[in-house]
Amino acid sequence: MEERKGRRIIMFPVPFPGHFNPMIQLAGIFHHRGFSVTILHTSHNFPDPSRHPHFTFRAISHKKEGEGEDPLSRSETSGLDLVSFIRVLKQKYAEPFRETLAAEVGGGETVCCLVSDAIWGRNTEDAAKEVGLRRVVLRTGGAASFRAFAAFPLLRDKGYFSALDSRLDDPVIELSPLKVKDLPIIETNDPDELYRIITDMVEGVKSSSGVIWNTFQDLERDQIMDLSSNFHVPFFPIGPFHKHNNDLPPKTKNKEDNGITNWLDKQEPKSVVYASFGSLADIEEKDFLEIAWGLRNSKQSFLWVVRPGLVRGTEGLESLPCGFMDNIGHKGKIVKWANQLEVLAHPAVGVFWTHCGWNSTVESICEGVPMICTPCFTDQRVNARYITDVWRVGKVLERNIMDKGDIEQVVRSAIIDGGDGMRDRCLGFKEMAEKCLGKNGSSSNYLDKLVRHVLSFDS
Ligand code: UDX
Repeated sequence: MEERKGRRIIMFPVPFPGHFNPMIQLAGIFHHRGFSVTILHTSHNFPDPSRHPHFTFRAISHKKEGEGEDPLSRSETSGLDLVSFIRVLKQKYAEPFRETLAAEVGGGETVCCLVSDAIWGRNTEDAAKEVGLRRVVLRTGGAASFRAFAAFPLLRDKGYFSALDSRLDDPVIELSPLKVKDLPIIETNDPDELYRIITDMVEGVKSSSGVIWNTFQDLERDQIMDLSSNFHVPFFPIGPFHKHNNDLPPKTKNKEDNGITNWLDKQEPKSVVYASFGSLADIEEKDFLEIAWGLRNSKQSFLWVVRPGLVRGTEGLESLPCGFMDNIGHKGKIVKWANQLEVLAHPAVGVFWTHCGWNSTVESICEGVPMICTPCFTDQRVNARYITDVWRVGKVLERNIMDKGDIEQVVRSAIIDGGDGMRDRCLGFKEMAEKCLGKNGSSSNYLDKLVRHVLSFDS
């Protein structure tokens, strides 16, 4: 552990688990390299500071008189889709973030830089500039999906977004190997706002003093090279974050193990399907039922995370057919939340049925666990294409054609025969990730460069 005095970093995460978790992991990495870290957070999904005792947490609030303390009231966000929710978050927090950042920087202790999630866009650059701070961006997704985000203006000009209704299997020649159906869009009432959020994110990356990626060179070398030749800011692919230090703080929101480890301990090696669709995705009830029957009919053991809200408008489990749980007996376990890192690292897990969020993708690869891919929106679609066609460590089960017969067959093939070599290939990537993090590995070298870069802002 290095000396901490005078090395302070302020971080501004986006308050969704898929963004907050990697920011906290990055905070752990900086802390390990001798920095003290202050995390500015919103009132939505705010963290439990007692779980991260190494960091200082500050709630973002209005500092000026006459304004309510909390920038966001619950009534302003209820019923919004994700895109509108992000729009409201960005609008409501822009000014309070400025004020809170200024108060933090004016506090006396030298601050090296601001690290903000790329989704916050250019506003954070302006706020940092105002207080004489440099801003480094954390991009929580992969480089391949960012290439697609960066191409949004071109994709729009070439009419690809209008092909989404009819020409889903057409190739996107400018972004090989993507097809039209892989473009990182999201169902929303306000596609123009999605376009604005994405282009603001990309412009915010261009105007930053550097980009930190939770990816590693041996996984995304070409995509990183392609991006860095078009973006004239230094790139730091230092991932996988969660494998850097063994003393990182715990990451899931549920401290309870829910009897998962005990159950996994009783299963044969590589025999369990772990199914989880991240923290935001939702599915229709009819698809939920196909998944339930498909898992059961596969006769393989399964651990399935059904969090409240996974099935649109329900708590989840009430949608299961009567007697389903009794019928599966010990063969299946359903929980509301799991410590995913622990689950994926357990020797009993043979395959991960995932929505292909970037964290889940990296976490699975790092444990050598092949995937069944059911992407739902944004970067997940791009990630799924790379998982299945480029890295060849997964098989696809498309969300809009969920069928219990297909599920049964794909699950059985993934568990029983290792899915045509995908398990072996995934183990190969696991080794590459370990190499990148080892002495003189690319991620370790980039981290050294990042530390020097951030410290150079002072001089
Ligand atoms: C979102 C987007 O959907 C994703 O595409 C983007 O890359 C990041 O933001 P999310 O959908 O939550 O993230 O997926 P993912 O990126 O996989 O992140 C989920 C995180 O929650 C992972 O770190 C995972 O380990 C954790 N998790 C999830 C648990 O610990 N337990 C669970 O039961 C489910």
